[in-house]
Amino acid sequence: MLLKAWGFKSLVPYQKKQQMIDNMSNNQNQEEYFYSRIQLSYNLNELEPYISQEIMSNHYHGNHRKYEEGLNNILKNNDLGEKLKTQFPDLRDLLRNLSSLEIPFQLKEKIRFQAGGLINHNLFFWHLAKGKEYIQQEFLEAITKKFGGWEEMKEQLVEQALDNSINDVVYGSYWTWLVLDEKKQLKIIKTANQDSPWMNKFQPLIAIDVWEHAYVKQYGIDKRKYLTSLVHHCLDWNFISNLYFRELLFD
Ligand SMILES: [Fe+2]
Repeated sequence: MLLKAWGFKSLVPYQKKQQMIDNMSNNQNQEEYFYSRIQLSYNLNELEPYISQEIMSNHYHGNHRKYEEGLNNILKNNDLGEKLKTQFPDLRDLLRNLSSLEIPFQLKEKIRFQAGGLINHNLFFWHLAKGKEYIQQEFLEAITKKFGGWEEMKEQLVEQALDNSINDVVYGSYWTWLVLDEKKQLKIIKTANQDSPWMNKFQPLIAIDVWEHAYVKQYGIDKRKYLTSLVHHCLDWNFISNLYFRELLFD
């Protein structure tokens, strides 16, 4: 029904994508934790040679797993699990409302880091794919209007991601994002550590992980080569197009 309402037949299989997007932030996939990692729909070697199987395996089963464990253990150990699960079954809503929660500052900071790490990586791993270059026409037009073209937008993503400063403060680890801002306008932003655009009530569409664990084992210090490989060869533009229209129309 939603597909019909949207009127975008080119977005088929929309329902599968919708399920994927919804699974990104809650417990629909029946994992052992309430707030859980998404399950991958591809093999860890599928992004070769752009992202090695070793990097993908370490990143997903190592780093991403730690955020999943970290968040759920913090909530459990502080008797917050049931309260937050009931109040915010969607992890995005937990992040949107984190600043107003009446809990100790240090605990809030721990949740901010682990919850951000979990959902940031969920989007990152969901929108990886090789050879999925289809982009929906209206999304392409919005990109062209804002950035001058699709290739130009990709270049700007890479250039922004190469710069490790945010508001003149230098960070070792950060993310670069294509988001829809509060006015539903496309924008490239960066966040430090595991801070997430959802904290600012933005809707992320592309998540570029610029932590060293995402590339150093394969690319050494050649961050540009990693970012170029990722942005130009490993993003699922059909998925991102779906996300754009979903966020534009519904959230
Ligand atoms: Fe990462």
